[in-house]
Amino acid sequence: MDRYVVFGNPIGHSKSPLIHRLFAEQTAQQLEYSALLAPLDDFTAFARAFFQLGRGANVTVPFKEEAYRLADSLTPRAQRAGAVNTLSKLADGSVQGDNTDGAGLVRDLTVNAQVSLAGKRILLLGAGGAARGVLEPLLAEEPSSLVIANRTVEKAELLAELFSDLGPVSASGFTWLAEPVDLIINATSASLAGDLPPIKASLIQAGHTVCYDMMYGKELTPFCAWASELGAARVLDGLGMLAEQAAEAFFIWRGVRPDTAPVLAELRRLLAAR
Ligand code: ATR
Repeated sequence: MDRYVVFGNPIGHSKSPLIHRLFAEQTAQQLEYSALLAPLDDFTAFARAFFQLGRGANVTVPFKEEAYRLADSLTPRAQRAGAVNTLSKLADGSVQGDNTDGAGLVRDLTVNAQVSLAGKRILLLGAGGAARGVLEPLLAEEPSSLVIANRTVEKAELLAELFSDLGPVSASGFTWLAEPVDLIINATSASLAGDLPPIKASLIQAGHTVCYDMMYGKELTPFCAWASELGAARVLDGLGMLAEQAAEAFFIWRGVRPDTAPVLAELRRLLAAR
């Protein structure tokens, strides 16, 4: 049986085994997918050992940059992201690194939520790994502007510079912006601490601005609650992105694209019941 895993530390909470089991059932693919707790101090040897027999792996916190360094080759989007969330064993035995996070976000926005990004003013909050991972696919949608705002402005400036050849991207501090935008994406980890980036309420045009938090939870995240109170046209969380990045990985491995809708409905049901 073809073997796949997700590497992380911690990993007990991972929804990936369930998602991929549902994908495999739906598409009648014979595979095994499990969660593996990788050691913090020796990820590379651990992952290499898995690939003696394993076919593919997803990679989550905190190993995405290590997976980037471990891969024998990288797809262009993984190269841009500076991080890898999907590893695949190729026919020659080498291991290729890819990054499906950005594609997952864009697909969740444009296909599931039917929000088109072309010509739109996008504000991306955060300049860490999560933000960097989605920049190339976002810019490929040809927004009219993409502003990266971050607590540490220098990190936003660095990212804007790194991606400046791909589109109209610029950097900012959180509090410098006041004009309404079409879409705000929260890629900070502020929600984890129950925090909200200190951006101005005037960025949201009631009934027009779409707000997306890459995080999700049983309750609305602080960012989603804030956006909702201000009358954002749509308030979306990152559960769809989770399902879509997994579907993209599944497609890379198996050549079949699963239907995410029933899987997402099941994830939503389990989250609400938690
Ligand atoms: P990730 O892989 O989730 O992106 P990361 O690379 O550590 O993790 O980046 C975390 C991001 O969330 C950064 O943009 C960070 O801002 P700084 O670069 O200034 O550290 C942002 N962040 C974390 N906690 C935050 C908070 N309480 N308020 C605002 N931004 C926060």
